[in-house]
Amino acid sequence: MSDAQRAAAVTEDSAARVHVPERSAPGADPGIETHAPSAVGMAVEEVLVLDFGGQYSQLIARRIRECGVFSELLPHDIPLEKIVERAPKALVLSGGPASVYAEDAPVLRTELLALGIPVLGICYGMQLMAKELGGRVEQAPAGEFGRTELTLREGGGSLLEGLPESQQCWMSHRDTVFEPPPGFDALASSPESPVAAFEDSERGLYGIQFHPEVVHTPYGTEVLTRFLREIAGCRERWSAASVIDEQVAAIRAQVGEGRAICGLSGGVDSATAALLVHRALGERLTCVFVDHGMMRKDEATQVVESFRDRLGVSLVHVDAADRFLDRLAGVEDPEAKRKIIGEEFIRVFEEEAARVGDAGYLVQGTLYSDVIESGGDGREAATIKSHHNVGGLPEEMEMDLVEPLRKLFKDEVRAVAAELDLPGRFVWRQPFPGPGLAIRIVGGEVNRERLDILRDADAILQEEVRAADLYRELWQSFCVLPVVRSVGVQGDERSYAYPIVIRAVTSDDAMTADWARLPYDLLERASNRIINECPGVNRVTLDITSKPPGTIEWE
Ligand code: XMP
Repeated sequence: MSDAQRAAAVTEDSAARVHVPERSAPGADPGIETHAPSAVGMAVEEVLVLDFGGQYSQLIARRIRECGVFSELLPHDIPLEKIVERAPKALVLSGGPASVYAEDAPVLRTELLALGIPVLGICYGMQLMAKELGGRVEQAPAGEFGRTELTLREGGGSLLEGLPESQQCWMSHRDTVFEPPPGFDALASSPESPVAAFEDSERGLYGIQFHPEVVHTPYGTEVLTRFLREIAGCRERWSAASVIDEQVAAIRAQVGEGRAICGLSGGVDSATAALLVHRALGERLTCVFVDHGMMRKDEATQVVESFRDRLGVSLVHVDAADRFLDRLAGVEDPEAKRKIIGEEFIRVFEEEAARVGDAGYLVQGTLYSDVIESGGDGREAATIKSHHNVGGLPEEMEMDLVEPLRKLFKDEVRAVAAELDLPGRFVWRQPFPGPGLAIRIVGGEVNRERLDILRDADAILQEEVRAADLYRELWQSFCVLPVVRSVGVQGDERSYAYPIVIRAVTSDDAMTADWARLPYDLLERASNRIINECPGVNRVTLDITSKPPGTIEWE
């Protein structure tokens, strides 16, 4: 499987999780109204970010939301009328990798600057503004990449007012604005950027060369907050939780008196989507949890207890382990394993859906990051994300999709989940691949004996990781069972048994990862316990490979 395929196939838990570095919350804003959850269709104050291809474009929208203003990322060439229709409070032009002078560089339509709303250009966005309006943009003798000293000029103008005269910021550019366009004031400089910020407050146009959205710009949140509150005049305070009432109303409007079904995987996305729909439809939602027998220890019980018993969701628990294992007998090739599990999953799900009867709606935990990847502005339908990501759902099911998380980033889903009382165990669960433990039994057939060993070893590792308070810090921590045997001595006997590999990684998005430096005493405890408590294992090893060159999973 290629990296791209894998990325597309990640579990709902692992899909595009964006790491939120800790940073100061924006200060209390006197006079800001807590945003009353809007009824369906009622306009929410929003700021649109136009994406010129920057690495951090998504993060800008995230940060704006963290400042309490709803924000979405749209392609830079989205038709003007679509922007006007939405009546945003302001626009932000993102950074981008191109030089404004490159042949195919994305261009700025000057009409965007004349909509009568403030526009903030960041990095490439600022350079575009400068070039279009008659400023001077050139390649600087040296680029600025990383931490850079920013010095304010003349109090920083209305955009940077009140910030320290000299401060650190984070830059990533080679082209630089040497002269602001006529009518603009230069607000700051840095060693290689004579004009590192500018504004024309009369026309409501602002530009900054540095990236306020990254954690290495300590005053970034303040800059964004000033832009949003003082300059764009945003008054409401949006929060992820305010989506709850809005979505409940939207789901009721969409489904009417109909019925919906939702495949639960135990991951936070499908769980949260299910809870929102449950709040809207009550008994008219049926959740289906297909237990393929390759879940982690106690996972199935936890799903049933939490959803059916504690949260009162109508849940069908299908114990389909035998079916899956029968089909997996003798299969060694990892892609064949994935394919079989995917096909079987769809079959089981279809059968259960037929039993539920007249459900015309299928609930999916599609996230905003999935929507962005598929085109961002809804021009292209989001790819249907099977909750198990092991093959997609059958077309002939002909159900309408209900996707209440389409506007939310992963962390926001967690906030909504917590607000909906989803047990913490689910809210913070580490990513887990759809095919489950099957892709962690490497180089041999998946069978009950191996699954039991791996499941027990994995549970021990998780217990130790949690006891060391490291669970949330790790992107994933798990065990792998290579199907080889090696010699050991246990008691007076020679043993000939499986090794268990401990794999623990830190990562922001699963595209790259570093092996986690787990403390030696944790490793020692986990190793001892795995060998003592899991018959069939006589050796524990640690995987110290980063990604790249390795992958997170072994198969
Ligand atoms: P790799 O191993 O490619 O994994 O570094 C990146 C992320 O994807 C998850 N993963 C999968 N998720 N089905 C899934 O639903 C799969 O077949 C699959 N393979 C890898 C992996 O756990 C990690 O979070």
